[in-house]
Amino acid sequence: MDTQTKNSSRRSFLKHSAMGAAGFMIVPRHVLGRGYIPPSDKLNLAAIGAGGKGWSDIGNAYENGANNVVALCDVDVNSAKRARERWPDAAYYKDFRKMLEEKKDDIDAITISTPDHTHGVAALAAIEMGMHVFVQKPLTHNIYEARKLTEAAREYKVVTQMGNQGSSNPAQHWMVEQFDKGIIGKVHTVHCWTNRPVWPQGIPFPTEMPGRPEHLSAADWDLFIGPADYVDYHPLFHPFKWRGWWNFGTGALGDMGCHIIDIPFRVLGLGYPTEVECSVGQVFVKDWTPEYIPDGCPPSSHVAIKFPASKRNKSEVNMIWNDGGIRPFHPDLIPADHDLGEAGSKNGIMMIGDKGIISCGVYGVDPKIYLKGGEVIEMPETVMTENPVSKLPDFGQQMSWTRACKAGFQSKEHKALHSSFDYAGPLTEAVLMGNLAIRSYTTGERADNGAMRFPGRKPLLWDGENMRITNYEAANQFVGRNYREGWNI
Ligand SMILES: NC(=O)c1ccc[n+]([C@@H]2O[C@H](COP(=O)([O-])OP(=O)(O)OC[C@H]3O[C@@H](n4cnc5c(N)ncnc54)[C@H](O)[C@@H]3O)[C@@H](O)[C@H]2O)c1
Repeated sequence: MDTQTKNSSRRSFLKHSAMGAAGFMIVPRHVLGRGYIPPSDKLNLAAIGAGGKGWSDIGNAYENGANNVVALCDVDVNSAKRARERWPDAAYYKDFRKMLEEKKDDIDAITISTPDHTHGVAALAAIEMGMHVFVQKPLTHNIYEARKLTEAAREYKVVTQMGNQGSSNPAQHWMVEQFDKGIIGKVHTVHCWTNRPVWPQGIPFPTEMPGRPEHLSAADWDLFIGPADYVDYHPLFHPFKWRGWWNFGTGALGDMGCHIIDIPFRVLGLGYPTEVECSVGQVFVKDWTPEYIPDGCPPSSHVAIKFPASKRNKSEVNMIWNDGGIRPFHPDLIPADHDLGEAGSKNGIMMIGDKGIISCGVYGVDPKIYLKGGEVIEMPETVMTENPVSKLPDFGQQMSWTRACKAGFQSKEHKALHSSFDYAGPLTEAVLMGNLAIRSYTTGERADNGAMRFPGRKPLLWDGENMRITNYEAANQFVGRNYREGWNI
C-alpha cells in the first residue's frame, strides 16, 4: 500500500471507528480525540514558521521520512525557501488560518515556531481543529494564553509538547533523582541566570522606518503582525530581533526562562508563584534622565519569584533570576576557580539546599553537586552514554512528541513526554510572572507636574488560580494583552 492510500485509509478508519463508538451520532472530533495510529504508519505534519528554529523543528519531527510533511506556512518566502526545497510536495501558505482551514482533514500534527506573539493564536486554532501541536518556548506571549492552551489541550484531547529540549536531557532527570534522594535537603533559594539578551534590547523604539524589503509584501507583514499592535516593518523586528520588543517578544527572560527555570521547576516540583519583585537596568542617552522605553524589554533584569513549598520540596523557594550579563556570586560551597553553571558561567542554575547545592548549565548540561563538607559529585558519564536520547537532535524533543501523537492522547508515550502542556503551561506562566513584574516596573504614570511615577515598583502578590495581581490593579493589564481585531483568543 503506498503512503497516500495508507494515510487516507487510516483517516477513514478513524472516522468510522469514531462513528461506531458514538453509535452513529455526529460527534465533534475533539470528543473522541485522534485515536491510535500504528507506529509504522506516518503522521501528516505541517509547520507554522518554517525558517529559523522552525526549520529544525519540522525536520526533527519529519525524522528522515518516518512522517510526511504535507504543508508549510511562513509569511516570508525567503525564510520558507529551504523548507520548500526539502519538501517540494508540501502545500505552501503564508496565512496559517487559510492553511488550517484548507488542510484540516489532512494534518494530524503541527509544529509552531513563529515569534512568541503568534504562538497562542496559532496553537489554539490548531488544537480546536483536533491537531496535535508542538509549540516553541516560551509556550505563549502572556500568562492568559498559557492557561488557555493548557486547558484547550485537555479539552480537545490532543498530544502537546513545548520546545524546551533540555527537558528531555537525561541529565535533568539525574538531578531529579538526586534531589529526591534528599542529597541536598530542602531547597530554599534558587539562582538562575543567562547572558542574554544577545540581540538589540533596551534601545528606544525606531523612529525611521526604512520600508519593507522587496520580497515582503504589505499583506505578508500584516500576517507577521497577527494579534500584535500594528507597526511598520523594521529590520529591528524581523527576522530574529523581534525578541527585544514586548509587542512581539518576551525579552531575555522569556527567551531563556523556559530552558533555565525548567530545571528547578521540575526538580523541586514547583507550581504557581505567590509573589514577584524586580529591578531592571537603565539606559542613559542624556545626562541624569533615564530613557523611558516601555515598548522595549530592558537591557538587564533582576527578578525574585517566590514559590510555596511543594509536595517534593517542603520549603518555600525564593528564585532569583538575572540576565543581561549579571550573574550571582560564588556561594561558599563552590570553589572560586570553578565556573558557575556551565563553561564560562554564561548560563546556569544553582539550587541551594540545607545540605548542599545542585548546579548545572542551560538545558541541564554539566550537572554537579556540592555538598557541605567539601565533597563534589559529578554525574556519571553513563547517564548520557547509555541513553540513546542524548545523541538525538534536541534530545528527541520533537521525535518523542510525534511518537506520542501516534500512540494517542493519554497513551503511555504521551504521559512520558517531559513538556506536554500540563507541565509546560504552568512553567511558562511562572516564567512570564517575571515579565509581568518587569513591565509593571518599567511602565510609569505621568503626574500633574509632568514627573514620572512608578507605582509598580514593589512586591506584587499573585493569586495563581484566578490569574490576578491582588495588590496593584494596573499590573493585571500584563496578564493578557489587547488583540488586534480578527486575531482574538
Ligand atoms: N528551543 C530552542 O532552542 C529555540 C531556539 C531558537 C528559537 N526558539 C523559539 O522559536 C521561535 C522562533 O524563533 P526564531 O529564532 O526561529 O525566529 P526567526 O524570526 O528567526 O524565525 C521565525 C520564523 O517564523 C516566520 N513567521 C513569522 N510570523 C509568522 C506567521 N504569523 N506565520 C508563519 N510564519 C511566521 C518567519 O518568517 C521566520 O521564518 C521563538 O518562539 C523562539 O523562542 C527556540
